[in-house]
Amino acid sequence: MSKILVVDDEVKACTLLKRFLEAKGHEAVTAGNGIEALEKLKTCPVDIIITDILMPEMDGFQLCRECKTNDKLSQIPFIFYTATYISKKDEEFALNLGAEKFIVKPLDLDKLLKILETTINEPVSAAPVAPKISIKEDEGYLAGYSKRLVTKLEKKVLDLEKEIKIRKKMEEYVIKAQKLESLSTFAGGIAHDFNNFLSIILYNVTFAKSCTNPTEEIFGYLSYIEKASTEAKDLTRQLGSFSRCGVPVKEKISISALISELSKLVLSDSAVSCEFHISDDIWLIDADKGQMTQVISNLIINAKQAMPEGGIIRVRAENINVTAEDYLPLNEGKHVKVIIEDQGTGIPDENLQKIFDPCFTTKQEGSGLGLAISYSIIKKHDGHISVESETGVGATFTIYLPASLEQTEKTISV
Ligand SMILES: Nc1ncnc2c1ncn2[C@@H]1O[C@H](COP(=O)(O)OP(=O)(O)O)[C@@H](O)[C@H]1O
Ligand SMILES: [Mg+2]
Repeated sequence: MSKILVVDDEVKACTLLKRFLEAKGHEAVTAGNGIEALEKLKTCPVDIIITDILMPEMDGFQLCRECKTNDKLSQIPFIFYTATYISKKDEEFALNLGAEKFIVKPLDLDKLLKILETTINEPVSAAPVAPKISIKEDEGYLAGYSKRLVTKLEKKVLDLEKEIKIRKKMEEYVIKAQKLESLSTFAGGIAHDFNNFLSIILYNVTFAKSCTNPTEEIFGYLSYIEKASTEAKDLTRQLGSFSRCGVPVKEKISISALISELSKLVLSDSAVSCEFHISDDIWLIDADKGQMTQVISNLIINAKQAMPEGGIIRVRAENINVTAEDYLPLNEGKHVKVIIEDQGTGIPDENLQKIFDPCFTTKQEGSGLGLAISYSIIKKHDGHISVESETGVGATFTIYLPASLEQTEKTISV
């Protein structure tokens, strides 16, 4: 049985290793940082020290330095067990301090135990740092130590900056989704009541028209009311797409076939053409065909309107396996990614954040509902839509939709 000092600021890791060592017949003492470890060593002699490096107050490097320059402690075998300082340079620095071993976490516990047991029985390496250290060596140590620390800090800062950026983006996604959620409830409620009023107006105006003669002046006025009411009804139908009744009725569809079909329809008689780059094995998706038709039509119509002089819309589709590392507001797993890219006017930076907002439009005759509805539909399908654009170069819309779990279906419904 040996007495082992385990030093780690992570209580869970420390306790786990302690329990494991005790189960294997050893005695284990724990400490949360270098200072605590030195304190324990004053009253409790141990056969070996195993320590983490990155710890508050006194880290593993400093602890090793204290031990290896102390007459009473220098003969205790010293092992670094680290998950943060893992480069070759870190290892070199650690071994130069006089440590016997340098192990990168995580390691199978049985293997770790073997290393501990063999190291205890090996003679302690001649510590390269003499107990009575010269000022020059001390300077060398400090320079090396700061270099290791600065490298680590720089990396940590970069990691944190990346993390902050990702979090900000995620927050934006959440805020946008919440905003649209409340607007959708509001719009859905209004659309329902409004539709009822419009139905009454339309019914009565049509009836009034039938009571007049087309040659009478009033017939023309009534026709205007009828036309405006019909258009208003269409608008409320679009607003209704936000509401809860728009729960998707899903079936298995091929998004690529749907796009090719719709592009033909939307772009017939236009100077805009569509180019497809779609892999043959593209997965099917579970989607509401009507709603997905709205999304794709909106995107193609917008692209077409952005290229009044004509141009090419490039459609790419590929299968992708979304993982947590993609930092997308999506569940992990198989998705179909569709990219619709045009060469139109593009979207100025100041508008990029607004284009999915209901009623945001830069067009004279626009309703500003197309993208808001598309966003809401894609969200209801557990997907995600985003945009990138450069003014004068074009706009690129990217959609992710979860792939259907069953891909074996022979009949592809479009
Ligand atoms: N492909 C595109 N190229 C340039 N601008 C676009 C594109 N798609 C959308 N937009 C911008 O986003 C706004 C909102 O689009 P949308 O919601 O479809 O409403 P609408 O087409 O009725 O204006 C448009 O008015 C336009 O300014
Ligand atoms: Mg539109």
